[in-house]
Amino acid sequence: MKAKPLPTAKPPVEDAGEMTPLVPTCVVGSFKGGVIKTSLAVALAERMAIAGLTVVLFACDGQEDARNRLGLKPTDPPVVKVSRGAGTIVIAGMPTAQATQFIYREGLAKLGHVDLVVVDTPPVRHGGSLPGVLLFATTDGDDATRNLCSMLRLTPQNTDIVLVRYHIPATRPDPDGWVEEVNAIEAAVGSRDRNLMYLPPIPRADPVKKALDAGQSVWELPRRGRTLEYLTGVETMATVAWKRIHPKTDLPAKPRKAPGYIPGWDEEEG
Ligand SMILES: Nc1ncnc2c1ncn2[C@@H]1O[C@H](COP(=O)(O)OP(=O)(O)OP(=O)(O)O)[C@@H](O)[C@H]1O
Ligand SMILES: [Mg+2]
Repeated sequence: MKAKPLPTAKPPVEDAGEMTPLVPTCVVGSFKGGVIKTSLAVALAERMAIAGLTVVLFACDGQEDARNRLGLKPTDPPVVKVSRGAGTIVIAGMPTAQATQFIYREGLAKLGHVDLVVVDTPPVRHGGSLPGVLLFATTDGDDATRNLCSMLRLTPQNTDIVLVRYHIPATRPDPDGWVEEVNAIEAAVGSRDRNLMYLPPIPRADPVKKALDAGQSVWELPRRGRTLEYLTGVETMATVAWKRIHPKTDLPAKPRKAPGYIPGWDEEEG
């Protein structure tokens, strides 16, 4: 008698698609490197703390840069709490598996009350695959957008997506061009039934770069020119994130410390 192969019996696949975080969670992700994920994750966490929230920032990319941008030193402990405005940010570097354990299963009760989790992801496809979160998906043009599409095909239906376009001012996409890119992404990821939004393009700005390199908060910069465009983008991200926590109120305005922008005099160079 000839042996027959057994039909393979696969274990049932657990469906992560319906899971939701225990605390409202924002993820900044892209398949591509260097498309300002960490900068936006930190600036968003800061803005939410300035609005009075207690924020936990998980740096899942194995790099020190999120900590550097909050002004921390390598000698500071692995989990640190910093104050911003009326709120706080607890920053913790950890592998992605440990972060999901906290976000979906264990919760963060040992840190006391937490309003929001922000996750800075490494440049890989799975950055887009957490369920039930607000995903800020960043791109800086053609290659990154193609990669973004393959990342977003993994994104669970219960995750809301905000597309973020970074650009260097000399290659600024015209507004219609960006809308076309958004439509192409939407078509590529088959997003008919999902919540997909997009921000106006966010520019490179020299003062922002200087602040990031020096570990200074971008929210302390004079708000003018391209810096203002950059901060407007992050402010919009914060507004969307705020609505997930407090749907009935508006994001509290950031007190204005820096003097106003004087057109014709305050234009930035570079
Ligand atoms: N608006 C901006 N203007 C000028 N420079 C910026 C701006 N945002 C970020 N940068 C700089 O661009 C570089 C890439 O930014 P960032 O590290 O945030 O990207 P990333 O996507 O997290 O990179 P990685 O894939 O390596 O994690 C950094 O040197 C950062 O200082
Ligand atoms: Mg990064």
